[in-house]
Amino acid sequence: MRNGQRKGLWIDGRYEETKDWSPVLSKSDGRLLAEVARGTREDVHRAVEAAVRAYAAYRTYPAHARSAILYRVAQMLEERSEAAARLIAEEAGKPLKTARLEVRRAVQTYRFAAEEAKRIGGETIPMDAAVGGEGRLGFTWREPLGVVAAITPFNFPLNLVAHKLGPALAAGNTVVLKPAGATPLSAFFVAELFHEAGLPPGALNVLSGPGGEIGDALVEHPRVKAVTFTGSAAVGKRIREKSGLKRTLLELGSNSAVIVEPDAPFEMAVSRTAEGAFQYAGQICISVQRIYVHEAIYDRFHAALLEKVKALKVGDPLDEATDVGPLIHEGEAARVAAWIEEAVAGGARIEIGGVKEGPYLSPTLLTGVTPEMRVVREEVFGPVATLVRYRDLEEAIALVNDSRYGLNVGLFTRDIAKAFRTARRLEAGGVMINDIPTFRVDHMPYGGVKESGYGREGVKYAIEELTELKLVVVHVDV
Ligand code: SIN
Repeated sequence: MRNGQRKGLWIDGRYEETKDWSPVLSKSDGRLLAEVARGTREDVHRAVEAAVRAYAAYRTYPAHARSAILYRVAQMLEERSEAAARLIAEEAGKPLKTARLEVRRAVQTYRFAAEEAKRIGGETIPMDAAVGGEGRLGFTWREPLGVVAAITPFNFPLNLVAHKLGPALAAGNTVVLKPAGATPLSAFFVAELFHEAGLPPGALNVLSGPGGEIGDALVEHPRVKAVTFTGSAAVGKRIREKSGLKRTLLELGSNSAVIVEPDAPFEMAVSRTAEGAFQYAGQICISVQRIYVHEAIYDRFHAALLEKVKALKVGDPLDEATDVGPLIHEGEAARVAAWIEEAVAGGARIEIGGVKEGPYLSPTLLTGVTPEMRVVREEVFGPVATLVRYRDLEEAIALVNDSRYGLNVGLFTRDIAKAFRTARRLEAGGVMINDIPTFRVDHMPYGGVKESGYGREGVKYAIEELTELKLVVVHVDV
């Protein structure tokens, strides 16, 4: 994308101009990357109407045709990977090497969607298992819902968009997408790929603009059948309140934890924990925020982790060597710095980090924290991890579960029976044994319990959420 370009509202397969525009700035150096249209309620209405019209035709597309479009998008994205990675690095401030991983994942997500488009089946029901069901043949299939509203966050501007568009379009729905205000350009990039890949006009519409106005208008719109959202628990609750009886799929926040037992694969546990805590400056829903280490290995773990954190290079996201870039904007760095200060005032110790310079915050490890501190209890969404010593596994399980969130948990131990016993008791959508909660590949079921939301992504699972099960019963004894 050329600097200084304008991106209008993507409705019915073309850009529309508007009166009001918002700047999208490079998080690397503050340059103007592009101006994007500020959509209004009326624009939402037109976009939804376009999606309703497109649905009439798109729902009849055979599975192989929907699949072929998704394969072509994956292919084009792969061919343009470097441009996509640079766009993510610029608009999201994500270090280039991490941005490249995101592009690679997004290519796979679209390929999974292309594959799953061909596997949306049903089952036969043994009707005669019930008295009164004799002489009937029952079976199910899945139908698309209609227009899906997708609302995506800034932190994975390409791959979390793929997790909405891939399953929705694979299943024959049409979409109105509202990407995050800070990172809309990756979404427009993808909309153009879909157009080039042959998706009919109106099947995907992209609107940028104020969340309060266009987000609410989308969620409340009577012709929208489902809302799929990734973001904060606060916004997730608001969506639930405003969406009425629409299907909702909510991937919300977390203060994810990892437990390290004395029989853990030690080196692996240390390096994966450091990665999981500070990748993309901790701005990941499943970032390692709470580290619980058994007292038998605590001192050694503490020293080894500090070494790893010291080695992280903080800097310009466009620099190939950078591990940790800026936060999405300076206000976020200030918020996280204030939470650190508050913890220190309450008795916590900064083992390393805690230095704020503009939007940058150095990777921070805190000890001496208590469960009531915000850095423990809330989702930090910044480069901060807390390290806590525990006496026995019972205590660690209780500490992990003492959270209003429950997305992924990591557990390091070589004892497989203990791992399974513990996995049963952890209140989370996913338990990663001998890995960190931050582990995710894109076809696995992904989602939370408690205030981490509900419903599951992971392409096949998201397709289940975004389709309706239809039952057909045939009375054959006639
Ligand atoms: C998220 O932050 O919600 C998604 C994390 C991931 O896809 O790796």
